[in-house]
Amino acid sequence: MIQILGISGSIRKASTNTKMLHTVAALGKGRINMPVFCALDTLPPYNPDLDLSGRPLHDSVVRFRQTCEQAQAVLFACPEYGHGIPGVLKNALDWLVSSGEINQKPVAVTNAYSNRARGWSGLESLIRTLRAMDSTITGCNTPEQALSEANLVQNQVRALIAAVQTSPA
Ligand SMILES: Cc1cc2nc3c(=O)[nH]c(=O)nc-3n(C[C@H](O)[C@H](O)[C@H](O)COP(=O)(O)O)c2cc1C
Repeated sequence: MIQILGISGSIRKASTNTKMLHTVAALGKGRINMPVFCALDTLPPYNPDLDLSGRPLHDSVVRFRQTCEQAQAVLFACPEYGHGIPGVLKNALDWLVSSGEINQKPVAVTNAYSNRARGWSGLESLIRTLRAMDSTITGCNTPEQALSEANLVQNQVRALIAAVQTSPA
């Protein structure tokens, strides 16, 4: 079964983005296996000194990197904070930059706003970072597409599945 990791950019208990990912996971049961990671606040602040020291890293970092490594694709659901992404999500991505667990993997980005004109800046900011990490963005790669039907979340999941099925690895 295809392994898609859902990463929520919100650590709020009642997060709409986390709820949306859990709904996608429930609807996809039997076709995809989609654990949802919504514990970004367990990761310590990224520090290259820690990363490159050769000493064991915090358990949460090791587990997060393993979870990302095991995923064949990643679906991000991310709110916009101050026209960017929440700091906890940027911190998590910083932990992946040097280790590369999502490099070249298919990734899609979405958000749970009911007003689809909102949240562009957050998604753009997320895409910029994911591009820098060499991820393969299969959904929502321009602000215009963020408003198109093609980026409804189920279509994003379909695009991720197709990308996994056609990837050489
Ligand atoms: C600190 C902070 C900054 C925010 N900045 C923006 C923003 O720049 N643009 C926007 O549309 N919404 C902004 N919001 C609203 C959130 O993006 C919105 O409440 C979102 O639904 C939260 O997602 P969640 O339910 O998954 O936690 C901000 C909220 C907070 C707490």
